[in-house]
Amino acid sequence: MLSVKGQVESGGLNHVPSKYLYHTNLGERISSDAEVIPTIDFSILTSGTPDQRSKVIQDIGNACAEWGFFMVINHGVPNLLREETIRLAETFFNLSEEEKREYTGTQLFDPIRYGTSFNVTVDKIRFWRDFLKIHVHPSFSAPNKPPGLSEILQEYSKSVREVAEELFKGISISLGLEENYIKDKMDTESGSQLLVTNLYPPCPQPELAMGLPPHSDHGLLTILMQNEHSGLQVKHSGKWVPIDPLPNSFLVNTGDHMEILTNGKYKSVLHRAVVNGKATRISVGTAHGPPLETIVSPAPELASGGNNPPAFRGIKYREYLELQQSKQLDGKTCLDHLR
Ligand code: SIN
Ligand code: FE2
Repeated sequence: MLSVKGQVESGGLNHVPSKYLYHTNLGERISSDAEVIPTIDFSILTSGTPDQRSKVIQDIGNACAEWGFFMVINHGVPNLLREETIRLAETFFNLSEEEKREYTGTQLFDPIRYGTSFNVTVDKIRFWRDFLKIHVHPSFSAPNKPPGLSEILQEYSKSVREVAEELFKGISISLGLEENYIKDKMDTESGSQLLVTNLYPPCPQPELAMGLPPHSDHGLLTILMQNEHSGLQVKHSGKWVPIDPLPNSFLVNTGDHMEILTNGKYKSVLHRAVVNGKATRISVGTAHGPPLETIVSPAPELASGGNNPPAFRGIKYREYLELQQSKQLDGKTCLDHLR
């Protein structure tokens, strides 16, 4: 397995190798309107007046229903912790190929998996991306190199999990459910949290390659941050909207399991990561879901009566992950499988 970073740094790569050629017109239907995803002030959710709180919960509900994506500011995760997480993630990718190879996972549920593209055993076209995926909850794993990485990722994962738990409360209320509905029904306190750090090296012909193709995320919520370089695009009203997050903010999106649980009320939205010609982009996302053995099906409170029957069959989170990994990452094909 040759990482993209390794190929770029071996020098002389002035074109995209043929197995990375991604045939799409990237300029097509990019939104030219200055569309911005909704911004949620997290501090109001945790310490606003009752009126402010109900307004922000309504905003969260609207963001989930209309965009499936929102930006979170004033989240309380220290900027230094975020910066250190990104810095140490980069230091991991700067290890030698040989050192990183030690962490190449072969199985989906290996607690530590370093790799490239999405799944090189199924990808027909390779993606311009290297990654490190680790399971951080309920039990925590991380590479023991470089020094300090494991400690920082553990602290970062815990802080982000606290943000997710608060958001689950707001989302539950926005659905007309009791505050702890998602926490209790999905057992999020013992739930699965997966951390993925993505590295997108500069690309000699960025319009001919793709960092990550259009996909939706598994899980209930994904919380993402990036270094100073943007590249995420979100599908909204039939167009790709480039996302430029505010400094120090998180991007949050609802995942496939939120779509299942809410019986389609909150949709998991297609997004992709494009690459650029100049700089290395790094992003760190954590996917928050129920325990792997939990079966997720539409909440009876949101799927009942003649006009609102359950739109999805239930599936174990573990099986869903296996299904997604066995397919090419392309659109919402896994979710469609459950209809
Ligand atoms: C992802 O969709 O998993 C990552 C997106 C990004 O790097 O912005
Ligand atoms: Fe994603």
